Amino acid sequence: MTRDPLVVAHRGASGTLPEHTLAAYERALTEGADGLECDVRLTRDGHLVCVHDRTVDRTSDGTGAVSEMTLDDLRRLDYGTPEWPSVLLTLDRLVELALDWTSRPVKLFIETKHPVRYGGLVENKVLATLHRYGIGSPGSADHARAVVMSFSAAAVWRVRRSAPLLPTVLLGESSIALGGGAATAVGATAIGPSVATLREHPDLVDKAAAAGRATYCWTVDDRDDIEFCRDLGVGWVATNFPGPTKGWLARS
Ligand code: G3P
Ligand code: CA
Repeated sequence: MTRDPLVVAHRGASGTLPEHTLAAYERALTEGADGLECDVRLTRDGHLVCVHDRTVDRTSDGTGAVSEMTLDDLRRLDYGTPEWPSVLLTLDRLVELALDWTSRPVKLFIETKHPVRYGGLVENKVLATLHRYGIGSPGSADHARAVVMSFSAAAVWRVRRSAPLLPTVLLGESSIALGGGAATAVGATAIGPSVATLREHPDLVDKAAAAGRATYCWTVDDRDDIEFCRDLGVGWVATNFPGPTKGWLARS
């Protein structure tokens, strides 16, 4: 019998509430999510903030590139809706939220964006942030609390080299890269195909398992896809609807 995949809230419960907001992550926790996914970008003055796009145009009431704005600039904007006004979420605040949730362990899945532009600065800052909270540093007991992910094999490699005990996911759409090549070369502890890629190449899960790697699949919002992932033995599914996903898994 296959084990149910653990459920990761993609940008929070972002199918219900504005993405990357505290409200969306709190909703994910109350809906039973096992993990929280976020994207991180660097501000002009070197802070890590949870924003997916290069600019804030789509997700806030302002405009401009995150990398050209300071933390104070970004904090002046609203990331919610008239019904759910929301302030900017920093990576620090998200880590605190996860650590404060004591009723069950919640894992953070942190995806670094723009890895090429800063040549490792984003990964270094993510690791420094985690270390400040006692996660992933050499003497720390808490290596399972966070996973660092990237579409960039170089970024995954940098994390493996600097924090060898911290789990990593190489995200991608290439069955060649995920089926051995790049995932093996950089020592990723898991592969992260999209559900479309997995539909095309379901053998990726077994190939990864044979190499000692787990599979993290995104973004799985459809019930058929959830069941498909469960039947394949996917370890983690990232979804915009953590509550309904937990419900489907419990009932099927
Ligand atoms: O969880 C991985 C997934 O989020 C990758 O795609 O564009 O949503 O960051 P994207
Ligand atoms: Ca992401």
